[in-house]
Amino acid sequence: MRPLFLLLRVVVVAWAMVSALWLYSLTQRYKSSRACPYSWRWMLDNLPRRVVQPVRSTVDSFHIDKGHTVLELGPGPGYFSVEVARRLGPEGRLVCVDIQPEMIGALRHRLLQAGVTNVLPLAGDALGLPLGDRSVDCAFLVTVLGELPDRPKALAELRRVLKPGGILSISEILPDPDYQFPDVVRDLCRASGFRLLEHRRRLFGFTMNFAAS
Ligand SMILES: C[S@@+](CC[C@H](N)C(=O)[O-])C[C@H]1O[C@@H](n2cnc3c(N)ncnc32)[C@H](O)[C@@H]1O
Repeated sequence: MRPLFLLLRVVVVAWAMVSALWLYSLTQRYKSSRACPYSWRWMLDNLPRRVVQPVRSTVDSFHIDKGHTVLELGPGPGYFSVEVARRLGPEGRLVCVDIQPEMIGALRHRLLQAGVTNVLPLAGDALGLPLGDRSVDCAFLVTVLGELPDRPKALAELRRVLKPGGILSISEILPDPDYQFPDVVRDLCRASGFRLLEHRRRLFGFTMNFAAS
């Protein structure tokens, strides 16, 4: 019991330190752009995050089916991308769109190291997605919505590229300084023509899945 308690304390303290650093980054960040700076990419993949938001169990809630075409908006350096690409299988394809070319560079590096070949990393803006109408079965974004300067426009773009009945999955986790509360996400998505399918709560955040009606 003792080692477990100690581990829990270490994780909580580490998470508190990460939160403090994250909040500090917030004050710096709004001086320039809203997007999580490339120099802070290490905040997106570290031990506390792996404990609080494990890759596999989080991806379980995204509705990833073998052979599908999936859009990941704002992948950053790809914390979830390799796992999702593997679940899609060789017939499936993951398209990753991030506004920062440096993030796309880091993602390419990670994919290369993992030997994953069914991913198309693209530098592009959520407000004008470089994808055709009704071209993806599912789209997911994790801690991205709050960074978008025009969220209704981005949601309209997501609706445009999703096939009818396609799934939009949105996840948020604290201590992201752009954290979006569940009712804000629900209302925004409903106003953009999405229907709420499920709301999965987690210790520090949530995933909401919507159908493109
Ligand atoms: C907080 S990071 C999250 C990265 C990843 N989803 C994760 O959970 O590890 C947000 C990402 O969204 C990207 N982003 C911000 N604004 C964007 C936009 N307008 N279009 C596309 N990507 C954007 C940022 O460049 C950054 O990589």
